[in-house]
Amino acid sequence: MSSFRAALIGTGAIARSHATALQRETDVELVAAADIRPEAVATFGETYGIAHLYTDVESLLREQHPDLVHICTPPHTHCELSVQCLEAGAWVLCEKPLAGSLAELDVIEAAEARSGTYCSSVYQWRFGNGAQHLKTLIDRGELGRPLLGTCQITWYRDDAYYAVPWRGSWQSELGGCTMIHGIHAIDLLLWLYGPWREVSAKIGTLDHDIEVEDVSLALIAFENGALATITNSVVSPRQRSTLRFDFQAATVELEHLYNYRNEDWRYTLPESSQRTADLARWQDLPPETGRSLLGNQVAQLLAAKRRGERPPTSGEGARRALEFIASLYKSAMTGQIVERGSIRPGDPFYEAMNGLGSDGESVA
Ligand SMILES: NC(=O)c1ccc[n+]([C@@H]2O[C@H](COP(=O)([O-])OP(=O)(O)OC[C@H]3O[C@@H](n4cnc5c(N)ncnc54)[C@H](O)[C@@H]3O)[C@@H](O)[C@H]2O)c1
Repeated sequence: MSSFRAALIGTGAIARSHATALQRETDVELVAAADIRPEAVATFGETYGIAHLYTDVESLLREQHPDLVHICTPPHTHCELSVQCLEAGAWVLCEKPLAGSLAELDVIEAAEARSGTYCSSVYQWRFGNGAQHLKTLIDRGELGRPLLGTCQITWYRDDAYYAVPWRGSWQSELGGCTMIHGIHAIDLLLWLYGPWREVSAKIGTLDHDIEVEDVSLALIAFENGALATITNSVVSPRQRSTLRFDFQAATVELEHLYNYRNEDWRYTLPESSQRTADLARWQDLPPETGRSLLGNQVAQLLAAKRRGERPPTSGEGARRALEFIASLYKSAMTGQIVERGSIRPGDPFYEAMNGLGSDGESVA
């Protein structure tokens, strides 16, 4: 099997997980890395044994011609870097959030169409065994219809976390706990439950000196009739990610913090149910791969690349969560119930997640 040449842009905290995930795979070689901080890329290159190190992305793309680029830079750089890499002929896996608006997503999709390459967003919660297994059961109709979803992403971030210059502002972080932390659960819920119809939401900045929200609450109605709530918080000292999916045939619960394992999933039948054999089968998750959730996503992306197919978290698979988040913010900032598909070019929330013009004036 021929080997893909991969490169990594941004060699800060999360880049370590990407390097580990890439170096675990046999059909890809991490050949290059770039960071605007020379000392960061030098240390990173030494740690992971990367041959070609750069402080500018253009030279990396021109000299190394990577087949795949992982973008691990701060959020406000994602759209421009993604387009640059796509146009150089590379497939992209970009950290979340992939884009700061639906307008930026359209720019990325236009670059995909011009270049014939694909840009995926990191949404690693979709790729663990438990989520993949549940999706298979849902698609086979084994659990009946989804009825209710309750997702509580109650995390804690202190002032030191928000002291990093790019955090806490709409311009550089592109959103608060909904966009940055809750996005994994949002992507998972929407992927499992199918098309959503409308959302109403509240956001607040309750305990940090930041522009973006540190709490958000959303109420969602799905086209299939299911209802769900999502709580996102970075003000919750006892941190937990508690997700509960109630189907006609069973309740499925996932309780963890950032990275779930097989044992974090629990299936429960109604007391009156006779389906104990089915329950045993549902609860019998496939053996773990030994990869992280991100590692599973990278493995699926490489498989899609080998087949030349659009990867699952690109295109509509990337847009779904971002359109929902734009709608959540619009609902919270205008007091309206927002329908899926209603934010189009010309709507201020199409241009920016907070519905503000480039002059910072509200145009909502
Ligand atoms: N998927 C997850 O669970 C997860 C977890 C943490 C962070 N993230 C995301 O990963 C991204 C990076 O977060 P982090 O915590 O690693 O940040 P970080 O600040 O630790 O690292 C970012 C790096 O990018 C470099 N950089 C900035 N602009 C650049 C440019 N134009 N070109 C090249 N390098 C540039 C910086 O010098 C820095 O080394 C963010 O979007 C964040 O939301 C995702």
